[in-house]
Amino acid sequence: MTREVLLRVDDLVVGTRDGEGREVRLVDGVSFEIAEGEVLCVVGESGSGKSLTMAAVLGLLPTGVEVLSGRVEYRGEDLLGASERRLRELRGRRLAMIFQDPMTALNPVKRVGAQIARAVRLHGDRMTRAEGDRRAAELLASVGVPDAAARARAYPHQWSGGMRQRAVIAAAIAHDPDLLVADEPTTALDVTIQAQIMELLAEARQRTGAAMALITHDLGLVAQTADRIVIMYSGRIVESGSVWELFDTPRHPYTAGLLASLLTAESASGRAYAIPGSPPQPAARPAGCPFAPRCELPTKSERCRTDVPALRAMAPGHTSACHHADSVSSFAQEVTR
Ligand SMILES: Nc1ncnc2c1ncn2[C@@H]1O[C@H](COP(=O)(O)OP(=O)(O)O)[C@@H](O)[C@H]1O
Ligand SMILES: [Mg+2]
Repeated sequence: MTREVLLRVDDLVVGTRDGEGREVRLVDGVSFEIAEGEVLCVVGESGSGKSLTMAAVLGLLPTGVEVLSGRVEYRGEDLLGASERRLRELRGRRLAMIFQDPMTALNPVKRVGAQIARAVRLHGDRMTRAEGDRRAAELLASVGVPDAAARARAYPHQWSGGMRQRAVIAAAIAHDPDLLVADEPTTALDVTIQAQIMELLAEARQRTGAAMALITHDLGLVAQTADRIVIMYSGRIVESGSVWELFDTPRHPYTAGLLASLLTAESASGRAYAIPGSPPQPAARPAGCPFAPRCELPTKSERCRTDVPALRAMAPGHTSACHHADSVSSFAQEVTR
C-alpha cells in the first residue's frame, strides 16, 4: 500500500549565531518524509536538534534561531515561505502539537473547559457558549478525564500533570488533524502515567487517522509506537529505517549504543552498557564524524576523524551515516550481550 506523503523535509539547515557573530548550525541537513497515517519517531539525546527540527517545520523557531536553507512541504505546499496567518491556520486545524510540559499550551488563569472550547471555536466551529462547554466536556471525556463536565470548570493548577496532558491532547485532536507532533509528551510525567498517555496518543491517532511525529530521547518508548525511526545526533540524522530493521540490524554505532543501553538496563548480568562521553556542543562539533570521539567500533579509523560520513542506503528504506556501517551488527551483538 502506498500512502500519500504528508510532510516532506528536505536538507533542512537551522542555525544561530555565536557571540562573535559566527554561524552555528543546530540542525544540519536533515531530510525525512512522513506518509499519511504513519508514525515517525525522532530519537536522540538531549541537544541533538529534535525539537528545533519540528519547530522549524511548524514555523515556531525561537527568536535568534532561523532556517538557513532547505525545504519543508505539507501536501506539496511550501511551509517555509508560508505566511504567519497560513501557518497559524495549519497549526490550529491540520498540524497539531503536544509538548513536554502541558502548561506551555494551557493558560493558568483560565478554566480548562473554557480553553478547550476556545480552541475549538478559534479554529473554525461556530457555537454558543453552552455548546462550547458541552463540546469541551465531550472531548475531555473522550480522552479519559473522569467527571469531565465538573472538572472542566477547574483551573489547570487544580489538575494533575497527566490530566493536563490529556486536556492538551483533547484540544489537539478536536479538529481531526492530519499530523500530531508530540515533542517528549511523557517526559515530564510519572512513569506510571507515561504508559497511559502513550496509550491515549495511540487511541487518538487511531480515531483521527492522523500521522504522528513522536520526538523522544527514549528509544524504549518507540518500539511499540513507531513505524519508522530517525536517529539524530549532533544536529544530523545518523540512521533511519523501519523499527524492526533498526532494532534487528542497527547500522550506526550510536544506534547500537542506544539499543545496548536499553537492552542491558535490566539485564540479569548487572552490566549495564552506557555510551561513553557526551555529545559535542554545536559550536564545537568535531571535524569528520561527530560521533567519532565516543565511538567504540573496533574498526574506527583515521577517516572517521577527517571525513563527515554521508547518509547512504543500507537496504531499501534503511540509511546510515557511518564509514563502517558493515561492522556495526557484530559490535551491537557484542555490547548487548
Ligand atoms: N533558542 C536557542 N538559541 C540557541 N541555541 C539553541 C536554542 N534552542 C536550542 N538551541 C541549541 O540547539 C541544539 C538543539 O536543540 P534542540 O532542538 O532543543 O535539541 P533536542 O530537542 O534534541 O533536545 C542544542 O545544542 C541547543 O542548545
Ligand atoms: Mg527537545
